[in-house]
Amino acid sequence: MVYPIVMYGDPILRKRSKEIPEGSLDIKTFVQDMFETMYAANGIGLAAPQIGKGIRLFVVDGTALDDLEEDMTGFKKVFVNPVIINEEGDKWDFEEGCLSIPNIRENVARPERLRIRYEDEEGNAMDEEYGGMKARIIQHEYDHLDGKMFVDYLTPLKKRMLKGKLKDISKGDVHTEYRISAPLKK
Ligand code: NI
Repeated sequence: MVYPIVMYGDPILRKRSKEIPEGSLDIKTFVQDMFETMYAANGIGLAAPQIGKGIRLFVVDGTALDDLEEDMTGFKKVFVNPVIINEEGDKWDFEEGCLSIPNIRENVARPERLRIRYEDEEGNAMDEEYGGMKARIIQHEYDHLDGKMFVDYLTPLKKRMLKGKLKDISKGDVHTEYRISAPLKK
């Protein structure tokens, strides 16, 4: 099932999502819906709050990013109850976008590498390290679980410049190729 994607301004995107107790959720179906929704919107990552669910789960699929120098083979994953243990390395800039903030892309600086613990969709405890673009995608999605969005990293000036556009997005006044749910839509 493809869900509409929740737009900037919806309070669910600003809450800290809750841990998922073991066995409390039909993970398989939920994950399938998450991937379907993400692909329908041509995304490379999607966090549960973006479909209106305040739980700690996100999915990624970077395998289509084959124009990158980095090998993305196998980077289609489900992160349940993830915890970033540490981040290190020089911060680097990359122009990020977000399905909940359509048609806006801005540079965000993030540390190069991270270590993350999580459960996979089978409930296996995982402990892995990622760098480069994979780390960046994880950092962006992980932020969503803590109510954070990439525009939060921008300078006050940049934020002021984007204010009108963000307001329009909250009202659903934005063009997308996918179904959206906008909080201020009348
Ligand atoms: Ni996002």
